Amino acid sequence: MRMPIIGGNWKMNRGSPSSAITMLRVLKRLVKNIHNVEIVIAPPFTALFSVIQYLKKTVIRVGAQNVYFEDSGAFTGEISPKFLKEIGCEYVILGHSERRNIFLESDEVINKKIKKSLSYGLRPIVCIGEHLEDREAGNTERVIEKQLEYTFKDLNKKDMMNIVIAYEPIWAIGTGKTATPEQAEEIHRFIRNYLGEKYDNDLKTGIRIQYGGSINPSNAEALFQKENIDGGLVGGASLEAESLYEIIKSAERS
Ligand code: PGA
Repeated sequence: MRMPIIGGNWKMNRGSPSSAITMLRVLKRLVKNIHNVEIVIAPPFTALFSVIQYLKKTVIRVGAQNVYFEDSGAFTGEISPKFLKEIGCEYVILGHSERRNIFLESDEVINKKIKKSLSYGLRPIVCIGEHLEDREAGNTERVIEKQLEYTFKDLNKKDMMNIVIAYEPIWAIGTGKTATPEQAEEIHRFIRNYLGEKYDNDLKTGIRIQYGGSINPSNAEALFQKENIDGGLVGGASLEAESLYEIIKSAERS
């Protein structure tokens, strides 16, 4: 049995420690009796340390939204996995379509970030997903397969076991347009089968694959009930404690 995982990707929102903790104070109380769902909050860097300190003795884990692939040095503006580890960060979101599209990160760069993060014991949540044009042209599986091949290049089974994949169709992110549970399940199954062939059955059945893209309290449950969907990466609806809690409960029920 795979434990579902709900990630709250705050993106460039709630960046001050006080704004982050105002929300988390409520969430912390709400999730007290949640046991079968892993919860990860990824605030902006400016709130990261305070959030880690605040959530120390709770079940809520903390992730960063980005990292660079070097340990230290002349890389103005960048943060290393070593720094994240040192402040107690456990997860890092990598390969998000906003990083790929706005900041032009390639599969190769993402691959380097994954390897460096893993070497420090951070757990990458790695996003993949197709553009609307890819889907309309019937190329979704081809695009996903290419991303899987290059993003996870030269990673062994042990590495992969420490990774969570987030399937996020780009046309569904922040648009209010969710993939239907059937559309999402089809790609999740495809990803699982691909990994089963590349690695083995253990990884195929063990790796967690989240869905992401306009998840909200009313569409979450139907998505999470699908066999191959292990929770979700939530953007907009993760900014308020009540809506995130509703989504977490849907994952617990599924
Ligand atoms: P959204 O974002 O839930 O606001 O669509 C999801 C994501 O980008 O991870």
